[in-house]
Amino acid sequence: MVKFRCNGVDWAVDLSGRGTPIVFLHGFPFDRTMYSFVAPLLSDKCRVIVPDLPGFGESRFSSGEIPDQFRMEDYADGLASLLDELEEVKAVICGLSMGGYIAMQFFRRHPDRLLGLIFCDTRSTPDTEDAAERRKHLADSVYQTGTLPLAEQMVPNLLSPSTIANKADIVLYLREMILRQDPSGVAAAARGMAVRDDSTPYLSGISVPAIALGGNDDCISPPDVISEMATSINGCESVTIPESGHLPPLENPRFFAATVRNFIDRLYVGN
Ligand code: MLT
Repeated sequence: MVKFRCNGVDWAVDLSGRGTPIVFLHGFPFDRTMYSFVAPLLSDKCRVIVPDLPGFGESRFSSGEIPDQFRMEDYADGLASLLDELEEVKAVICGLSMGGYIAMQFFRRHPDRLLGLIFCDTRSTPDTEDAAERRKHLADSVYQTGTLPLAEQMVPNLLSPSTIANKADIVLYLREMILRQDPSGVAAAARGMAVRDDSTPYLSGISVPAIALGGNDDCISPPDVISEMATSINGCESVTIPESGHLPPLENPRFFAATVRNFIDRLYVGN
C-alpha cells in the first residue's frame, strides 16, 4: 500500500502491474480489499490502481475531521487529483455499486480523463425519497451502533445463495471488511448517496468504450437494471456474472477479471 496526500485526503492505494491504467472503486461500506483477488489476475497487462475511498479503509481526511456528508462529486474530484499524483492523464475506471455512482460523476465532470468505463452492479438512478430517508437514518444511527448491525443486515443480501452456502471464507472476509470501517466515513458516504442526482440523462453522452457487469443473483442491482442501463449507453455490452450476487470481485473473481481483460483487449482494436 502507498499513501498519497491530495485534495485534503491521505489516500491509501494498492498499486501493481504495468500497462493500461485501471482504477477500481469499491462500494459501500467496503474498502480496497474488495479487489484483492482480482488485482493479481490483471497486473500482467494493467497498472492496477485500487484506492480506499476517503473515509474508508486506511484513507484519512488530512484535517483529521470527516465531513458530515461526502458527495459522489467529491469522491470523483478527489479521484481526478489522485490520477494527477499518479501521473496518469487517463485511465479506465471500474466502479462497483457506490463506486459506479462515483464513476458516473467522474464521467460527467472529467470526461477527458477516461479511457473506458466499467459499471459493476450499479445503477444510474437516484434514491427514492424513502430510500434517501433510510440512508439518513442509517447515517445517524451508525455513530451509536457502530458497523455491526450493518454487517448483520447487509451480508445476506450482498452475497448469492451459492456464495453463502459454499464459501464461508468469503462470507467472513466480507463481514470483517464491513466491521472495520470507521462509522464517520460510513455516515458521510450514506448522506452523500442520499443526495445524489440522476445520472441517467448523461448515459447517452458516454463516448468512451463502456461495459456493464452484474452478478446473476444480485438482488440490489439485478440483471434487468444492468441491461437497461447498458442499452442507454452507445455500444455498451452487458455481461451477467455467474455464481455471484452484488460483489463479483469477491464471489467470482476469475470470471470478473476475465471479463475486464477482454474489455481491455478490445480497447485497442481499431486504434
Ligand atoms: C454498494 O454496494 O455500494 C451499495 O449497495 C450502494 C447503495 O447502497 O446504493
